[in-house]
Amino acid sequence: SANQMWGGRFASGPDAIMTAINASIGFDQRLYAQDIAGSRAHAAMLAATGILTSTDAEAIGEGLLTVLSEIEAGNFTFSTALEDIHMNVESRLKDLIGAPAGRLHTARSRNDQVAVDFRLWVRDQCDAAISGLTALMRAFLAQAEAGTDWVMPGFTHLQTAQPVTWGHHMLAYVEMLARDKSRFEDARKRMNECPLGAAALAGTSFPIDRHMTAKALGFDRPTANSLDSVSDRDFALEFLSASSICAMHLSRFAEELVIWSSAQFRFVKLSDKWTTGSSIMPQKKNPDAAELLRAKLGRILGATVALFTIMKGLALTYSKDMQEDKEQVFDAADTLMLALAAMTGMVGDMTANREVLATSAASGFSTATDLADWLVRALNLPFREAHHVTGTLVALAESKGCDLPDLSITEMKSVHDGITQEVYSVLGVENSVRSRTSYGGTSPDCVAKQIARWKSLLA
Ligand code: ARG
Repeated sequence: SANQMWGGRFASGPDAIMTAINASIGFDQRLYAQDIAGSRAHAAMLAATGILTSTDAEAIGEGLLTVLSEIEAGNFTFSTALEDIHMNVESRLKDLIGAPAGRLHTARSRNDQVAVDFRLWVRDQCDAAISGLTALMRAFLAQAEAGTDWVMPGFTHLQTAQPVTWGHHMLAYVEMLARDKSRFEDARKRMNECPLGAAALAGTSFPIDRHMTAKALGFDRPTANSLDSVSDRDFALEFLSASSICAMHLSRFAEELVIWSSAQFRFVKLSDKWTTGSSIMPQKKNPDAAELLRAKLGRILGATVALFTIMKGLALTYSKDMQEDKEQVFDAADTLMLALAAMTGMVGDMTANREVLATSAASGFSTATDLADWLVRALNLPFREAHHVTGTLVALAESKGCDLPDLSITEMKSVHDGITQEVYSVLGVENSVRSRTSYGGTSPDCVAKQIARWKSLLA
């Protein structure tokens, strides 16, 4: 039979396969709370502007609350024939209150309805990401505080570069996550305009009050162009983009954890809560959570690319293509929130191995730069020459199978006779990190100042 929402023009109902491809209720039922909130704001506005009687508007408002509680209690049967969440809710409203339900859709279209529902949902997800990020920043900050001055190797190319401090490495992630957080805050601000009242695409001839509905739904203002209002999915793309960058950051720390927790590195111990064993190899403690966190960007970036591809080249205004936006964003948001929670748990529970970090920091000629800098300061060598002298000393130590501090003063002098005993004071890793006092550097003093700054920012 013909559709009850638009059946007037139709002689027959849709093919079963048409229903299957067309229906979105299987996933957009997640928008029920936003849909009902939007409808309630719309109905109240229709009454305030005299478009509906207050009797009808009240019946609608009450009826919608009943629908809400039915859905929340799990007593609601979603129907594929009714296509989407909007028609499922409205149809149930009609069962409950009868004829006035048919007046709710005055001065509205599903195009602005879905735009407002989805914006409200994505806005909530921005808030969830912001609080998830705050928790994770606190976990990294606690790690930084626990080992502010612990020495560890700093890497470039995953080769030993210079000694750094554990606190400094942990705070590097706090900086990244703070930028992620600000991207969600920024996106939230920009998306906080209400498309409701744009109707199908052109606005409406009814004397609606879009400022009223915008305010009721917590938006800063109504959107200013009705065509744009029903066409725009920038807000979802911004959410996905910010999520992708954030998931990329998580994947980098996840990779470090995989490396650091290996028997070859032993920089950190992951707790039993975030690892798994092997059914055959009894010694195994695998960093599965870290590996999955390394992988999750694949999904989130996949959703981002999918939605860009869906939106690309769509002529204004609404096209059904846009229905494909939701599953991508739902999956990306679920994935991101789970990833943030898992990373927060793992960071909170991990234990850095201070001794191993210190031993490793001292290997691999990690203080070669300190030696070159000393040659510049003490002997006034040009840096390029100091670099060359140091390189020769490293080669000498390597050929003898020892580290730089193990070379005798005679061996040092054989490479450059200006070198004095004083050089040994700069070859230790503790002195090395203490000397890196430039703003943003790795010295424990600098790190302690940054910790204090983050503590007050996150308090
Ligand atoms: N289910 C649709 C979506 O997600 C709602 C809007 C439908 N509008 C329309 N004109 N068919 O995009």
